[in-house]
Amino acid sequence: MSDPTPLYEARNVYKNYGSVAAVKDVSLTIHAGEIVGLVGDNGAGKSSLVKVLSGVYQPDAGQLIVDGVERHWKSPHDAMLAGVETLYQDSGLALDLTIGANVFLGREKMKPGILGRLGFLAQKEMDAEAAEDLERTGIAVHASKRTVGQLSGGQRQAVAIGRAVAWAQKVIILDEPTNHLGARQAGEVLAVMRAARERGLGVIFISHTLPHILEICDRIVVLRLGSVVRDAPTSTFTAESLLGTITGLHAE
Ligand SMILES: Nc1ncnc2c1ncn2[C@@H]1O[C@H](COP(=O)(O)OP(=O)(O)O)[C@@H](O)[C@H]1O
Ligand SMILES: [Mg+2]
Repeated sequence: MSDPTPLYEARNVYKNYGSVAAVKDVSLTIHAGEIVGLVGDNGAGKSSLVKVLSGVYQPDAGQLIVDGVERHWKSPHDAMLAGVETLYQDSGLALDLTIGANVFLGREKMKPGILGRLGFLAQKEMDAEAAEDLERTGIAVHASKRTVGQLSGGQRQAVAIGRAVAWAQKVIILDEPTNHLGARQAGEVLAVMRAARERGLGVIFISHTLPHILEICDRIVVLRLGSVVRDAPTSTFTAESLLGTITGLHAE
């Protein structure tokens, strides 16, 4: 079998919080142009795994491999520099900043020359580029002079997703991005994920909305009590078997 090298691979990863084993011996691959659904009940370890993949936490054991090279993230910034972008379940937008400033949060552009060295931001340039980036990802949030705090929940989420998709070079991880969204907005988020897949990114999509998972994912990984209990193409699941695998009430 000549499986191409995954964009990102986790091998035998563990993450404990004190005596709580949140992630146990998890192995996972994400290939270019693939959407992988990560599902499991509350407490199954999805967000903990995301935080290991994105550099928020270091694994207690196991390997993280990007393009065939083992990596050790010291911070989320390291993972971002390597092309791995993450939308956390708690999205981390700054409500008092403009949309543009949020898109560039942590990577602000400075004015050229002495002004920049004095800490002056290239605000206009960032606003314009942010609007362009969001438009390119298919997310229509205009008027980037507004602060994120003035936006609706759905629009805020759109900015958070747009930021991640705009920066992602290899992999984008979306932890419950459609939560609290209406049907139309959730549909837009799914469209953004499809566009990211078409750009050749690898996408990890976490959701409790199983129809969305079945609709959009190429492969589904089911976590239960911190471990992978099934990793298989979406076509091998039905709505019933997926639910049964998540809850453990169904023979896999
Ligand atoms: N910061 C933390 N400190 C201690 N325990 C945690 C922390 N975050 C999560 N946990 C525990 O780890 C397990 C996995 O949680 P989590 O990764 O949030 O699961 P999921 O995202 O699938 O709901 C749960 O038992 C949860 O209570
Ligand atoms: Mg979670």
